[in-house]
Amino acid sequence: MHAFHLFGTALVGLSQFVFHSHPATPFESKILTPDLDDYIAGILKEWNSVAGAGVAVVRLKDDGEWQIETKGYGNARLDGTKVTEETLFAIASNSKLFTALAVGQLIANESLSPRISWDTKIQEFIPEFDMMDPTASAATSIVDAMSHRTGLPRHDLMYRLHNVPLDVQLKYLKPSLELRESFQYNNLMYTLLSYIPTALLPARPTIADISINSSVTRHTGFWKVPKISQKVTN
Ligand SMILES: *[C@@H]1O[C@H](CO)[C@@H](O)[C@H](O)[C@H]1NC(C)=O
Ligand SMILES: *[C@@H]1O[C@H](CO)[C@@H](O)[C@H](O)[C@H]1NC(C)=O
Repeated sequence: MHAFHLFGTALVGLSQFVFHSHPATPFESKILTPDLDDYIAGILKEWNSVAGAGVAVVRLKDDGEWQIETKGYGNARLDGTKVTEETLFAIASNSKLFTALAVGQLIANESLSPRISWDTKIQEFIPEFDMMDPTASAATSIVDAMSHRTGLPRHDLMYRLHNVPLDVQLKYLKPSLELRESFQYNNLMYTLLSYIPTALLPARPTIADISINSSVTRHTGFWKVPKISQKVTN
């Protein structure tokens, strides 16, 4: 298993721990306590992991201020470099959360005209969206694409072909199920969903707009970024 998969799993597991185990914690108090440090170190040990984890706790306090705690645990690299709060990880499919959040913000945006909802058909605002099955193409909504139920299987080899435009890729990929028949994990649909902010907003939003300025969004040059964690296989 790759280190960044471990990271994703750890993050989900920890947030559940954090939010369900301390219902009585006063709001001002720290969450990343020595107890929790031990718990996280224990998980890494239990998984026999040579890698590490970055943990962030963000919550809105009663006074309207944000409480932010960040900390690194374990090793970032096999040379023994430790994970710090600035270590970057290959985020892999956790980037889908950013896509879902960006689309959710547009759905909540009352100044958007026309408004969109989770059930809005994608062709209504991205007319180029065209799969092999025209009926499925016309009926596919945002939530269909987001919940992996368009009928299209992974076709991940196409996913790597960044020089072929997505509308061209999708048109020639065979579905293996009907729309909404079942869950089939599909990365291409998240590429499609990532175009929604661009299609609906006057300016293309970037991660720098939300002050995420030390990360990169492309594979190109990724491994040259300082403070990057190494990919390791247990
Ligand atoms: C909401 O929509 C308006 C109008 O298109 C746009 O100017 C604004 O940036 C949007 N806000 C967000 C958070 O997307
Ligand atoms: C990212 O940008 C914000 C706002 O411009 C700045 O305050 C912060 O220091 C920057 N962070 C890094 C790691 O460069």
